[in-house]
Amino acid sequence: MAFTGLFLIFFLLIHGYVNANVLFENGEENFNRAANFMSTNALIRIMEIGLFAGFIIHIIQGYALERMNRAARSNKYAVSGVSKTSTWYSRSMAILGTLILLFLVIHLADFWVPSRFGGLEEVTYGSVETHNLYAKMKEVFSKEWAVIVYVVGCFSLAWHLLHGFQSAFQTLGWKHKNYAGIIEGIGVGFSVIVPLIFALMPIFMYFGWELPIGNITLLF
Ligand code: HEM
Repeated sequence: MAFTGLFLIFFLLIHGYVNANVLFENGEENFNRAANFMSTNALIRIMEIGLFAGFIIHIIQGYALERMNRAARSNKYAVSGVSKTSTWYSRSMAILGTLILLFLVIHLADFWVPSRFGGLEEVTYGSVETHNLYAKMKEVFSKEWAVIVYVVGCFSLAWHLLHGFQSAFQTLGWKHKNYAGIIEGIGVGFSVIVPLIFALMPIFMYFGWELPIGNITLLF
């Protein structure tokens, strides 16, 4: 769980970095170019297989772990209660994980399916012809309910990460007492900042906002 979790955390970092282009002026071209690179680069396409495998393994292991925890709890306690030391999100990883899974199904149907199987308009920048995923985002995030679903999805992700990040380090034995504070700080920072950046995307697109920094591109 820890390895697949950290792999998915790494994916989120790259995905957030590429997509954050949409928050800025010139976001349409910068984001479409970056997304085009990601979807045409052979190495990244191979990693995509690993990514889907990582998600599936992580989900299966998560449900298996939850079943084991439930069985252990019902054996130990006469009254079906929960450990005082475990926090709310530690106990609710499966519920939050399920919410994220639902979010992912909607999300892949919105973007990944039309991107891979057709249904997107094309746009040309110089000699590069690519899918206009930016226009697709505008279309998806013109609906209030979609914005709400995505923001709730990002909120669930933040809570899931708050526990999962430091738990992965603990499982792998990388939580030496001298660095525990630093690791916890990085974990909390990542768990709040990355989902927040994701959540800003549907909100910015719905309201037509863009940060007035036009000539930077976050990737290319
Ligand atoms: C909330 C803001 C988000 C936006 C606007 C967004 C946008 C996109 C877009 C446009 C694609 C299609 C890329 C392509 O096919 O070339 C995509 C793919 C994907 N997204 Fe997101 N995403 C968001 C959040 C997330 C989150 C929070 C997760 C994970 C929990 C996630 C997981 C994925 C996965 C697994 C893919 C398929 C990866 C691939 O193309 O190989 N996304 N996203």
